[in-house]
Amino acid sequence: DLPDRVTIWEVGARDGLQNESTTVPVGVKLEFLDRLAAAGLTTVEATSFVHPKWVPQLADAEQVLAGLTRAPGVRYPVLVPNERGLDRALAAGVRDIAVFGSATETFAKRNLNRTVESQYEMFEPVVARARAEGLDVRAYVSMCFGDPWEGPVAPEQVAEVSARLMAMGCSQLSLGDTIGVATPGLVEAVLDAVVAAGTPVGAVAVHFHDTYGQALSNTLAALRRGVTTVDSSAGGLGGCPYAESATGNLATEDLVWMLDGLGVDTGVDLGALVATSAWMAERLGRPSPSRVVRALAG
Ligand code: HMG
Ligand code: MG
Repeated sequence: DLPDRVTIWEVGARDGLQNESTTVPVGVKLEFLDRLAAAGLTTVEATSFVHPKWVPQLADAEQVLAGLTRAPGVRYPVLVPNERGLDRALAAGVRDIAVFGSATETFAKRNLNRTVESQYEMFEPVVARARAEGLDVRAYVSMCFGDPWEGPVAPEQVAEVSARLMAMGCSQLSLGDTIGVATPGLVEAVLDAVVAAGTPVGAVAVHFHDTYGQALSNTLAALRRGVTTVDSSAGGLGGCPYAESATGNLATEDLVWMLDGLGVDTGVDLGALVATSAWMAERLGRPSPSRVVRALAG
């Protein structure tokens, strides 16, 4: 019914920090990344090689990669939208990248300045070149469960965009609930449509934001459908600068608490992670929104 083990794809340093109004110094980002790896997370998304004017919070991507101490057995993927971003990522020694598409026209325009159709033209050479260099490529799809401008999104539309991105040669698909509106029945419907369109469930990850408090329930529904990779952010940091109604991601601590209780292995030391998020909350000057961090810290 449930997997024995779940891989957590930690997005706090990217999805979390991209949405902070204060720019976090490089040294703090590096300590954050070190502490996440030390807490047992094995996939720690580090930053994005996007246009610095679009996401000024991550304009220091080169410095972050240059200062990073790569812990053994830990992957540090970065977001890359286009060939310019890939050039920068390759120059920085990156081995894992993620492209990020949209299931809806409005968000494709707002997040990528492209149409849904032209996003594929942007990503195709990125994926092809990255694979030729031996890199691993994940494909994110945003607005899979609802869009703030367009309303409900048809599962078939998500399945179509997902299949197009996976056909380029991506190894994993992450289904994003960018604004946190999904509920468990819809999660099942979207997963079923995506799998029916050809992506094996073992290659599907879920990426829930917790705006409406549904992220854990949605995660459990996805695990029961066979998903084994879950995105979350330490302390529940996050949001998306181009989707204003989005709040933070599912907090990694909330996820680990649930999985520990279910006997599902994550390899994460919850105490070390809570201490990291409490430390980061001090640096950001506001408390973590994670219920588990608030219950256990201090
Ligand atoms: P554009 O304006 O169409 O770019 O933006 P362009 O291709 O027309 O290029 C314009 C100029 O930008 C050129 O410079 C390029 O070199 C430069 P010029 O020749 O005029 O001097 N440029 C770059 N510079 C540095 N790095 C680059 C880069 N690309 C172009 N990579 C673009 C298109 C995709 C670049 C822009 O829209 C962009 O950067 N978007 C990123 C938005 C973003 O990061 N959003 C947040 C991440 S997505 C997310 O959070 C959702 C997720 O969490 C899942 C979920 O929750 O749903 C993943
Ligand atoms: Mg996100």
